[in-house]
Amino acid sequence: MIESLHVVGSGCSYDVTIAEGLLESVGERVAASTGAGRVAMVTDTTVDALFGDAVARSLTAAGVEVHRMSVEAGETSKSWKVSGLLLERMSEAGLRRGDAVVALGGGVVGDLAGFCAAVYMRGIGVIQVPTTLLAQVDSSMGGKTGVDLPRGKNLAGAFHQPLAVLTDPCVLPGLPEREWLSGLAEVAKSAFLDSAAAVEQLEADAAALLARDPEAVYRAVVMAAGLKVRVVSADPLEGGIRESLNYGHTLGHAIEAVAGYGVVPHGRAVADGIRFAARLAQEVLGADAAWTARQESLLDALGLSPSGAACGVGDEAGLRRAMAADKKARSSTVRFALLSGPGVYQPFEADEAVLAEHLREWCAAESRG
Ligand code: GLY
Repeated sequence: MIESLHVVGSGCSYDVTIAEGLLESVGERVAASTGAGRVAMVTDTTVDALFGDAVARSLTAAGVEVHRMSVEAGETSKSWKVSGLLLERMSEAGLRRGDAVVALGGGVVGDLAGFCAAVYMRGIGVIQVPTTLLAQVDSSMGGKTGVDLPRGKNLAGAFHQPLAVLTDPCVLPGLPEREWLSGLAEVAKSAFLDSAAAVEQLEADAAALLARDPEAVYRAVVMAAGLKVRVVSADPLEGGIRESLNYGHTLGHAIEAVAGYGVVPHGRAVADGIRFAARLAQEVLGADAAWTARQESLLDALGLSPSGAACGVGDEAGLRRAMAADKKARSSTVRFALLSGPGVYQPFEADEAVLAEHLREWCAAESRG
């Protein structure tokens, strides 16, 4: 099975190719889409041990000189310091304007390597080769790159669209459970944003996805990547509809911050955020209660039950502060992506009072369990 999706918009155009076994042909595909004689293959220690040799061999066989640069696995590598070290190594390796970066890994590697490609010599090409479910269904496409700063995640970054995205779902079965759930939360988000048909298919596939059945995984990756490609083609720089991809993330990011990064898995926090957004849509947009219940049941079926995190004494104020500090927040209101039904997106600006009231209700319901 092979699926080729095409991203266009804001002066960029590239393919997202999804196929089982694609990792073996990364070399020829990188050579064809970049023309690079030399690449920095940026990866992390875990992914390097699993797939680094195969990808490096494929690049070498295609006549591309490979400079392998492996960072420690984990969010702490997505830093200003590590990006500086990588840039120095790229210059020591003699990379020039026509050369490229291959980002082999999950969201951290994709953002970090993409950021280095965006600033090295004012921008060289990057090929994204996502190896986690989250990266395959979301972060590898659309050109968001960046690093974290001590005061927040992704505070330094640039839009830098890849020259190609090469997605091989065969690399996914070995992912740790926590990573798998993070990806599933983005898959659920994508189905909710996409259509009633996508939600129905995901309901039918939920058990198979938990068991990582290859056909169900392939369908989910194609569905979510298809939605992402359509949205970022319509709005590459997030001036409008791309904000919908933030569904569940406004509160989700705040929960991660308040609970302490790494305490609540990203997927559980996003699923909590989707539950909150669904209830908010019911209250402020008059969305059907059955739509809220359907989203909650599907999250449960995907193993994304409520985390119960960040609902202790004093957490509500912390959540409000974290949401107000988010870089997407505007002056005195917090902006939410809401859905009044499958695929029916509406942004909503919540002021202090509305937010306080709904958070209080939500926290009370969550702590009751
Ligand atoms: N992950 C959301 C976006 O790319 O806009």
